[in-house]
Amino acid sequence: MTAEFITFEGGEGVGKSTQIKRLITNLTKSGVEAVRTREPGGTPRAEAIRSFLLQGKSEQWGPSAEAILFAAARLDHVNSMIKPNLESGKWVLSDRFHDSTRAYQGLTGGVPDELIGALETLALNGATPNLTILIDMDPELAFERVHKRSAEDGLNLPPDRYEKEDLEWHRRLRRNFLDIARANPDRFIVVDGNVTANQMETDIWKQVQDRFEQLSG
Ligand code: TYD
Repeated sequence: MTAEFITFEGGEGVGKSTQIKRLITNLTKSGVEAVRTREPGGTPRAEAIRSFLLQGKSEQWGPSAEAILFAAARLDHVNSMIKPNLESGKWVLSDRFHDSTRAYQGLTGGVPDELIGALETLALNGATPNLTILIDMDPELAFERVHKRSAEDGLNLPPDRYEKEDLEWHRRLRRNFLDIARANPDRFIVVDGNVTANQMETDIWKQVQDRFEQLSG
């Protein structure tokens, strides 16, 4: 049986982490061992780059340098976490991966395509996802959800690096993710994020079962 590499993508607050946890539960029930990870991060070295990036310290360097930092974190993540797990037979589910660099830094941030392409070749080191699930959602609704959730948790966290961009920026980001999905129809499935978490879980599980033979029946 082949171990599959699945990535989740989308804008801020679309509910990726909830859906990854639920997909892991569904996979486990089907006898598949799966591990969850995230980007930027997933290894101690990549987590160190994550805090530098998300605290906004890298902003003054500009989007090209930021893209290089995301890729540096990714290279470590691929080589010391993703590949070893896949090789040991475990499925790997990552909350964001290389499409985030293309969408955020490339298409929305203006980093030239040649740099994005070169970084992909370098950092993926052959680990292209077998499936990418894009959760597509109106950013205005996603932000409402995020704020409601943090108010309920009693948190009042400052916005991180990209949350503070304006609504028009996030609308552009949404269109750019959809363009990436359209350009890679064999790898992507696009899921409607404007539904309940239960409905989204059902949609994702059905499409994942359709995609991988070992899950059918
Ligand atoms: P995170 O707190 O994990 O947010 P989310 O739940 O929205 O994923 O923060 C990750 C942030 O980093 C998010 O704003 C997207 C951004 N990002 C990039 O800009 N480029 C990348 O390559 C990756 C992996 C993430």
